[in-house]
Amino acid sequence: MSKKENEENLMQKIVSLSKRRGFVFPACEIYGGLANAYSYGPYGASLKNNIKQLWWKKFVQSRADIVGIDGPILLHPKLWEASGHTTSFDDAMVDCKKCKKRFRADHLVKELIGEDMEGDLEGMSKALEDDKMKCSECGASDWTEARNLNMMFETKMNGINEKMYLRPETAGAIFVDFKNVMDSMRMKIPFGIAQIGKAFRNEIVARNFIFRLREFEQMEIEYFIDPEMKWEPLFEKWLDLQEEFVLELGAEKKNLRRFEHSKEKLSHYSKKTVDIEYKFPFGFSELFGLAHRSDFDLKQHAKFSGKELVCQDQKNNRKFVPHVLEPTFGLDRSILVALCSAYEEEKMKDGSERVVMKFPKKLAPIKVAVFPLLKNKPELVEKAREIFVKLSDQYMCEFDDNGNIGKRYRRQDEIGTPYCLTVDFDSLEDNSVTVRDRDSMKQKRVDVGKLEKFLEENLK
Ligand code: GAP
Repeated sequence: MSKKENEENLMQKIVSLSKRRGFVFPACEIYGGLANAYSYGPYGASLKNNIKQLWWKKFVQSRADIVGIDGPILLHPKLWEASGHTTSFDDAMVDCKKCKKRFRADHLVKELIGEDMEGDLEGMSKALEDDKMKCSECGASDWTEARNLNMMFETKMNGINEKMYLRPETAGAIFVDFKNVMDSMRMKIPFGIAQIGKAFRNEIVARNFIFRLREFEQMEIEYFIDPEMKWEPLFEKWLDLQEEFVLELGAEKKNLRRFEHSKEKLSHYSKKTVDIEYKFPFGFSELFGLAHRSDFDLKQHAKFSGKELVCQDQKNNRKFVPHVLEPTFGLDRSILVALCSAYEEEKMKDGSERVVMKFPKKLAPIKVAVFPLLKNKPELVEKAREIFVKLSDQYMCEFDDNGNIGKRYRRQDEIGTPYCLTVDFDSLEDNSVTVRDRDSMKQKRVDVGKLEKFLEENLK
């Protein structure tokens, strides 16, 4: 099998395991599905929550200089005028005139001539015509002109006459709360405001499973700094922290790289933008981003709202508009990294194969599975239930009395459960259980009274 086939195969395996084992389902399947939309099943929702918690702990809970908010999805329509989203949050599209299928023009041109022509509508139209790009759907080579399409989802709100939008990024909600946070929390520069939440973009083509969605979640920080400070070392530090977070998702360093946007492609207000790219099964693609956005956002919001958005430097009797560094993290892409990094196929001594999701233990959707050896022995079931109830107080646990123990282990391996506990007849005598480790598959006896301590030490 070629490398490309292998990679496509891996993606298919992850998509299929995600559905079979309750991580990610195609959305609205009973109605025939909704194109490229997904819902997170029980284990996917648990994995997602664990990633959010990991992020919140790292960037909010353990930092005195960053506070978190939870702003609305529906924001004042003026905000999107101020940020430039209503006029320039566009992607270029082309349609195949024969089969009417729609494509991202810049993606087609990149595939065709390897050049990034994003923003150059004329150039893209010419490249598609000159180089006779064939439509992947029908094989024709007859394209419309490339034209821009705004990616914001429009909606209506009772009592408001203007067009409303579902927010296309969480950042907007942070900027409008800048003054309230500063006043109520007595924050001193440098400081950050963090937020996790939904964002919506009417992508021309959603694709690659949960990589490019129309409804997705972001974890963003706006980090406000003094415009006079030397920002470069802090920028580097943020990139390091972002990479550190990817490693905590289970990724290997060799699968990460940085991509700095060229000066010509930068927005006029940005001093520097770097993407953290991850090697997904479909190739290196943007995972997270870090941008120096200067004072653009606060100045624009001050201009459009008529409110002063500044910091006071009491010591030097100075008033200034802070600059901002914006580390942004895609949550759905983080989940995809965790799924891709965890997936392993292992050959067993008896020639069989096991699929095991080797999530970092902190991220595992279920931490402990509890089994009675036999389901028709009430004394075993009762003891296993007692242990399940006790441990569930602290951990996501699962009780399973279906099928033979080997099959139950395989199921938990595919979910990525670090520990399986089995209550057998000896347990009734010596009050201990068999603890089986997901990665080494080694088993040992642990006293029931010492289980909590064992898990506390081993699930860190
Ligand atoms: N506030 C800055 C901002 O929104 P962005 O590069 O457009 O920057 C940030 O988006 C992150 O959000 C990306 O790095 C990616 O992880 C995630 N993201 C963007 N569009 C996405 C989509 N259509 N589906 C899933 N995740 C997406």
